[in-house]
Amino acid sequence: MRLKEKVAIITGGASGIGLAACERFLEEGAKVVLADFNEMEANNQIEKIREKGNEIDFIQVDVSDEDSVCRLVKETKKKYGKIDVLINNAGITDDATLVKMNIDQFHRVLDVNVKGVFLCTQAVAPTMIEQGKGKIINTSSVSGVYGNFGQTNYAASKAAVIGMTKTWAKELGRKGINVNAVAPGFTLTAMVKKMPEEIIEKMKGNVALQTLGKPRDIANAYLFLASEEANYVHGHVLHVDGGIMM
Ligand code: NAI
Repeated sequence: MRLKEKVAIITGGASGIGLAACERFLEEGAKVVLADFNEMEANNQIEKIREKGNEIDFIQVDVSDEDSVCRLVKETKKKYGKIDVLINNAGITDDATLVKMNIDQFHRVLDVNVKGVFLCTQAVAPTMIEQGKGKIINTSSVSGVYGNFGQTNYAASKAAVIGMTKTWAKELGRKGINVNAVAPGFTLTAMVKKMPEEIIEKMKGNVALQTLGKPRDIANAYLFLASEEANYVHGHVLHVDGGIMM
């Protein structure tokens, strides 16, 4: 029960890594707000979670929309009176090589992956400052650290997440708030499953552990950073990638 009574907002909680994080946090006693754009998928997953006897909230949000994010934070505070953990996990890809990428693709990915992380953190920060404590965990990617073929927009967005993490660690550390990032390697979720089989096999070959990550592997890293065990971990980018690049 490493998160007993902790209130956690998990964006992008309806699928993949975010869903695994919701499940993992519930196992550790957290009160979880699953925040996602995809209402249908969220309701499907929530039904399954409740069938297992767990309670969970769903608030529909578009992380790239300021009003929507404000509503998420307001409703969470109204119900629980506090926010202990924010997991900025929602993210999208829209791949194309440099010369083929159009400006809409570029903006779409930055809107969700950068503006979304900014808006959610900005909306939650005053509550955590008032509390004198809180944990903010942002999701970067191996692509943001090393670059990746066909991912100008995504790599830029995930590198920006690292820059924001370190900046907020400097600004919010003195307020008692831990800010860290997780940089997942290739993890078997909808995002990766839509790639061609031969590319997935090639990716596996680049991983020292010779296997792709499971959503729960990343959820465990979120859990560690959200727990009291990580109270002195700050401004850190935790690579959870099976040793893809060393
Ligand atoms: P996923 O595609 O399975 O899930 C993403 C979730 O975010 C979906 O439920 C989707 O509805 C939600 N979402 C998308 N746009 C949204 C918006 N505007 N507002 C609210 N929710 C929105 O993706 P996955 O693989 O679970 O990825 C989770 C995070 O991990 C993302 O930030 C991704 O960039 C990052 N990541 C994933 C890797 C992978 O190999 N799967 C590798 C490195 C990083």
